[in-house]
Amino acid sequence: MSYERDNIRRMAGYTPGEQPQNPDAVKLNTNENPYPPSPAVMRALAETPADALRRYPSPTSAAFRRAAARQHGVEPEQIVATNGGDELLRLAITTFVNPGSPVGVAEPSYSLYPVLAGIHGSPVVRVALGEDWRPTPDFAERMNRERVPLTFLVNPHAPSGTLLDPDAIATLARSLAGVLVIDEAYVDFVDPSHGHDVIALTRRHDNLLILRTLSKGYSLAGIRFGYGIGAPGLIEPIAAKTRDSYSVDAVAERLAVAALEDQAYATSTWEAVRGERARLASRLEGLGLSCAASESNFLLARVPEGFAGGASAVYRYLRDQGIFVRYFDQPRLRESLRITVGTPEQNDTLLRALARMNR
Ligand SMILES: Cc1ncc(COP(=O)(O)O)c(C=O)c1O
Repeated sequence: MSYERDNIRRMAGYTPGEQPQNPDAVKLNTNENPYPPSPAVMRALAETPADALRRYPSPTSAAFRRAAARQHGVEPEQIVATNGGDELLRLAITTFVNPGSPVGVAEPSYSLYPVLAGIHGSPVVRVALGEDWRPTPDFAERMNRERVPLTFLVNPHAPSGTLLDPDAIATLARSLAGVLVIDEAYVDFVDPSHGHDVIALTRRHDNLLILRTLSKGYSLAGIRFGYGIGAPGLIEPIAAKTRDSYSVDAVAERLAVAALEDQAYATSTWEAVRGERARLASRLEGLGLSCAASESNFLLARVPEGFAGGASAVYRYLRDQGIFVRYFDQPRLRESLRITVGTPEQNDTLLRALARMNR
């Protein structure tokens, strides 16, 4: 006898990347920042008073909202703090999609989106990205035709790392009849020379909800802290109605504030990752793999057929060597590996293993 709702019984859950227990594993599979969090974060953790644990946290995460508003030049009413970026994705569906109405996703992208839609009882409208991993010109029209009230778009794109510029996002926000979530989980790694800024668009587009996370750029995947940025009218129903009471705990909030306030440290890690991204891409190319131009902290590396049995064989071989990368057995991705940019030492270990394989 199953007590699950029909849609829950029918669905498969999200498949997370492997979390190997061996501390010597070279872990390049879940896009964590390879550098530790800021020393200011570790101090804030050590100095957390017992009272911060005894009492409930701020129900609105007020200190974080103020810090994030200062950081991004918006009002605190335009920020909502969530238990990881993933909670914001769930809340966006809960808040803006009637049960049974569809959720729009670009294909391929983050595999959690359809899972969250399935939990909500929503069908998924999948619109394939172009060859260049960008939305095709009819993207918004196709979502509107299917009466999609909420569309997810990850930018820089995962798993390719392709960056869509703010003008293209403004055009999509203007054209879509529903809410557009721009999932900026990896935006911290974009080269600053692009002057990439989508937050400014929230002043003109009241249907634009931006996802940010402390997991990647701030090396804090372990504490589960994300946030949304948008027009006050978009944020208010999430912050005041659909968000769980106290979904963000007091320790996480303190650490998130400390992390955000140490921009000098965070930006130094982003710079290091960008340097390694360029080196790793060129070394992979030298071995015969081809990488999509990435503005993220990972590379989508295409493995030629003749290279050591192809992508899935390479994935398994690396895994046996204690080197974890991500393999997606799905159309357009099964010839490739998604490789998180690691420290220079981790990247060298990977490159040596690949060179050995192809001898
Ligand atoms: C595309 C994308 N969006 C959002 C997230 C959410 O991250 P978190 O819940 O750790 O903030 C991830 C995490 O891997 C991601 O890859």
